[in-house]
Amino acid sequence: MKIIRTPNEWQRERQRMGSATVGLVPTMGALHAGHLSLIRKCRSENSITVASIFVNPTQFNNKQDLSAYPRTFEDDCRLLEQEGTDILFSPDYTDMYPDDFRYQIRETELSTRLCGATRPGHFDGVLTVVMKLLTIIGPTRAYFGEKDYQQFLLIKGMAEAFFLPTQIMDCPLVREASGLALSSRNRLLSEADRRKAPKFYQALSSGKPLDEIQQLLESDGFTVDYVEEYDGRVFGAVFLEEVRLIDNVKR
Ligand code: PAF
Repeated sequence: MKIIRTPNEWQRERQRMGSATVGLVPTMGALHAGHLSLIRKCRSENSITVASIFVNPTQFNNKQDLSAYPRTFEDDCRLLEQEGTDILFSPDYTDMYPDDFRYQIRETELSTRLCGATRPGHFDGVLTVVMKLLTIIGPTRAYFGEKDYQQFLLIKGMAEAFFLPTQIMDCPLVREASGLALSSRNRLLSEADRRKAPKFYQALSSGKPLDEIQQLLESDGFTVDYVEEYDGRVFGAVFLEEVRLIDNVKR
């Protein structure tokens, strides 16, 4: 796997590839089996698979959350290589934000609901960095997991709104046997919270009315950010100590 650090370096590499189809799997690292399922799907549909690792500061509305975000670059590289990733694009802040975030992409409706209601600016950061990644890499397809289903809908909408040539692909959420959705943040949970965390999925998928799901979660010791229905799915976000978990299930 070749590691590329700057947009210019990528442009030189891209010219050598000719007309090969390129698939992109954008990540913030701390990779788990969910990310690897995206890499496998990408490899099966494109001749070149590019993964990106960039912990994007503009999507963290809380500085503590940004500094606590797990960084496991060496392990990530090993996992990406094992899966047969061709190229890792891993830029630094100044390469991605020569404008220091003066230019931003903003969606004004869905981005203010669900996770956007309590994380102001979060989706501005996500959409802006994804727009930059899509513009730099110019992939035929880009792959996103359904754990972040609101993010997927917003990125798909952005690609349509700006006539981007990249196809935005969604991939099924991957769960542990316990039902807990795989997430980079799971590794921040204490042992006791790790045991409690699967109850989040169990409550969301219980089929109960939303207020009962919320009560169930609170009585199990979760601090509930929201439980809401949108687009035929139940979405939720909860805290265990400082760690924020999100999940969604089809209703
Ligand atoms: O889902 C993520 O890991 C991030 O939000 C993304 C899409 C890589 C943008 O930073």
